[in-house]
Amino acid sequence: MKKYFVIGNPINHSLSPKLHNYWLKQNNINAVYDKIKLEENEIENFILKIKDQEINGCNVTVPFKKNVIPFLDKLSLEAEQTLSVNTITFDNGSLVGHNTDVAGFQEAIKHLNYNVKDKKILILGAGGVVPSIIFALNKMEVSKITISNRTREKAENLKSQFNKISIVEWGDIPDFDMIINATSLGLNDEIINLGNFNISEGKFFYDVIYNPSETNFLRDGKKLGSLTENGKLMFIYQAFGAFSLWHGIEPQINLETLKLLEND
Ligand code: ATR
Repeated sequence: MKKYFVIGNPINHSLSPKLHNYWLKQNNINAVYDKIKLEENEIENFILKIKDQEINGCNVTVPFKKNVIPFLDKLSLEAEQTLSVNTITFDNGSLVGHNTDVAGFQEAIKHLNYNVKDKKILILGAGGVVPSIIFALNKMEVSKITISNRTREKAENLKSQFNKISIVEWGDIPDFDMIINATSLGLNDEIINLGNFNISEGKFFYDVIYNPSETNFLRDGKKLGSLTENGKLMFIYQAFGAFSLWHGIEPQINLETLKLLEND
């Protein structure tokens, strides 16, 4: 039986096993997918197990998307451009790092029928998933990307990777068409407070968080008369990409798939 994992720290919250095991069963694939919490010094050994084919592949989540890179033989274009790997495969004797978060974000936005071309985007946060979102937005030809992060230095680091982005101080809200919450605020009791800003209606509020399904940030967006969406579709589409790479089969995404991830 083939074995796949998602590695990260923390990892308890991950819904990847639920989704992948559902698709494995649906496609009669003799494999199992589990989650495993690693410390940074355990990454190398874990990846060697993929080379030894003891394990057949893995997903990588926060905070290891960059740390895995030194142990891989090759990177896909997206992984190389974002310095972020969320899926590892073993192909013809090589460990390959892929980034399906980029397509995940792009497909989610397409699915929502929102046209981001020529739009002004404001991203809150500069953590693990942001390089993938910037890369995807550039591919979709947005007109401007502005980053606001509590630790300015991390936003500056992103600028050395993507020189077209602008940076504003944490707490500043410049004019935007679409605002993306890519911070971890909203996962727990901490909130983003946009109440004091003069934001006109008809914007798009997008939260990378999908659990809880409606954060305070999205509630504010609704109150302000904006379109809102959480990160569930992005999560599903990045998993779709990983599943296709490992098994050569495109799994189904339908209402049942969306329902599977409810109430967790
Ligand atoms: P990592 O930073 O390890 O990649 P992440 O979950 O991908 O982790 O990113 C967390 C994001 O949420 C960061 O942008 C972080 O801001 P800092 O770079 O300043 O740490 C942001 N974040 C977390 N808690 C926050 C808080 N209380 N206020 C503002 N931003 C916060």
